Amino acid sequence: MNRSRVRYLIAITAASVSWGASAAPDFQKDVLPILQKSCIECHGPDKQKGKLRLDSKEATFKGGKDGPTVKPNDPAGSELIKRVSLPANNDDRMPPEGDPLTEAQIAVLKEWIASGANWPDGVVISGPAKPEPVVARPAKVGPPPPPLPELPKEFKPSAGEAGALATLAKAGLEVRPVAQNVPWREANFRLAGTNVTDASIAPLKEVTSLIELNLGNTRVTDAGLVTIAQLGYLQNLQAPLTAITDAGLAQLKGLSNLVTLNLYGTPVTDAGLEHLKGLKHLRAVYVWQTKVTPEGAAKLTAALPGIYVNTGAELAALSTNTPPAEKKEEKK
Ligand code: HEC
Repeated sequence: MNRSRVRYLIAITAASVSWGASAAPDFQKDVLPILQKSCIECHGPDKQKGKLRLDSKEATFKGGKDGPTVKPNDPAGSELIKRVSLPANNDDRMPPEGDPLTEAQIAVLKEWIASGANWPDGVVISGPAKPEPVVARPAKVGPPPPPLPELPKEFKPSAGEAGALATLAKAGLEVRPVAQNVPWREANFRLAGTNVTDASIAPLKEVTSLIELNLGNTRVTDAGLVTIAQLGYLQNLQAPLTAITDAGLAQLKGLSNLVTLNLYGTPVTDAGLEHLKGLKHLRAVYVWQTKVTPEGAAKLTAALPGIYVNTGAELAALSTNTPPAEKKEEKK
């Protein structure tokens, strides 16, 4: 951690205790920033984990599946306080990942509830500031997007799944549930990057509960896609900056639940896209910095109306001189 980061953390800690012991915390000044920074990502407009939203007074007081989250004047009886106060190794602790709330922040929340949990009418917490997506779908009228796949209500992980997860974890490849109490899983191997090979992902073929996988920047090749081809519920496959070719895409024909496929910066061509024509849920394919041509993209769009194929042409039109932001970030 560098010096300026340390100073930044100290500044935050100081700010969050600055309301002092006597006055009740002010919702907008003291409470809102805590929820916005640590909770809204999963309990706001984008996601409602645990069927809970924390971005409006009505939703917060109503609570989630475990009942009222905030009971005015009763911090100990408020699910919100229980959750943030759990030890870090408890699966129910909130936030479930990332930095836990500090003692000072928890104290603010307790004090706020103890003093009646005032939430001024009409105040809605917006999501944490996010950078604009680099590749935004242009707003234009066209055929409606393909229907989203539905995951089965009853799903039993394969007998080999637990063992496969353990093997992967030993190799530093974490595959985790997308939410608590659901069997579906996600994995992001992008950070492990070039350490990840076809061999290291081989155990994934047992993990049929996988619905999201990021192989960006890894050394996975077409041979690795034979493993991926076993994952029939996979909805989102990110494989940018890999060596995957047209032959690899032929392996993906059976992934009938695939919704998003990112092949940015791979050697794929128009011929590879031909293999995707039967994927009826496919909504978006990213192929910029590949050999895919606008004609090849148009062919796929004709076969799958409503699909969005990004060849980078729009970005090129936006800025002819500066490379797109994502490219800069990824070409490290
Ligand atoms: C990374 C995602 C994530 C973040 C961030 C997060 N939560 Fe959650 N939260 C979940 C998930 C998943 C569940 C459902 C599983 C469970 O009940 O533990 C949940 C459930 C809850 C519940 C129980 C809802 C109910 O009635 O069952 C409360 C209360 C809660 N969160 C509060 C918070 C608070 C407060 C914060 C911020 C300090 C926060 N969460 C941040 C993912 C998140």
